[in-house]
Amino acid sequence: MHDAGKVIIGLAIFVLLITFPIWFTLASGKAGHRPELELPKNETQCVESKEYMKAWHMDLLNDWRDAAVRDGKRMYVAEDGKKYVMSLSLTCLKCHTNKAKFCDECHNYVGVVPYCWDCHVDPKGD
Ligand code: HEC
Ligand code: HEC
Ligand code: HEC
Repeated sequence: MHDAGKVIIGLAIFVLLITFPIWFTLASGKAGHRPELELPKNETQCVESKEYMKAWHMDLLNDWRDAAVRDGKRMYVAEDGKKYVMSLSLTCLKCHTNKAKFCDECHNYVGVVPYCWDCHVDPKGD
């Protein structure tokens, strides 16, 4: 009897452990929701690689702003030699036409609210 009790407790712990991912997901409601990004339909690549953009787009935008505003430089030459006008509204949003379903979708998910749109325009007006 003594041992049977231990086995049952052991089994209970085991079941809890292997089902952890399931009830953890259920309990924390938000898990499972991933932002659904709307990517440009007529373009296949970003200014720089997708990995680079994911990690560094904020720094790239900062550099663009400094170059444009401080140095009056407006042409950006990417890794692959392609040229882009350094502009938030005219370049980024020209490809990423749906700011709400791209920039905002991801930012809402991670909880950042860039203040850029106080001054810069979303051509679609969202
Ligand atoms: C020439 C069109 C074009 C321009 C201009 C452009 N993008 Fe992109 N962007 C894309 C495409 C296409 C992808 C998807 C790339 C892929 O899947 O490999 C992408 C991917 C991204 C991603 C990664 C999304 C993900 O799936 O995680 C970010 C972030 C991003 N872009 C931000 C920007 C920002 C910020 C700018 C302006 C500095 C910009 N893009 C300018 C076309 C563009
Ligand atoms: C794949 C997810 C993703 C997408 C898509 C995305 N961002 Fe971001 N963005 C982030 C994350 C994460 C941060 C916060 C990074 C940090 O705090 O280091 C961020 C931060 C920023 C910041 C700096 C904000 C601040 O207050 O520091 C700017 C500016 C920005 N994003 C612009 C854009 C623009 C413009 C687009 C659309 C063209 C875009 N992002 C699309 C994930 C994304
Ligand atoms: C208080 C208003 C204001 C805010 C907030 C602001 N900007 Fe700007 N930004 C400007 C002005 C004004 C210019 C100069 C416009 C020009 O010379 O074309 C500029 C220029 C730029 C440029 C180069 C020109 C262009 O058309 O885009 C970039 C890139 C830029 N800002 C990015 C950002 C980013 C990213 C944020 C948010 C993190 C931001 N700005 C927040 C006012 C602002």
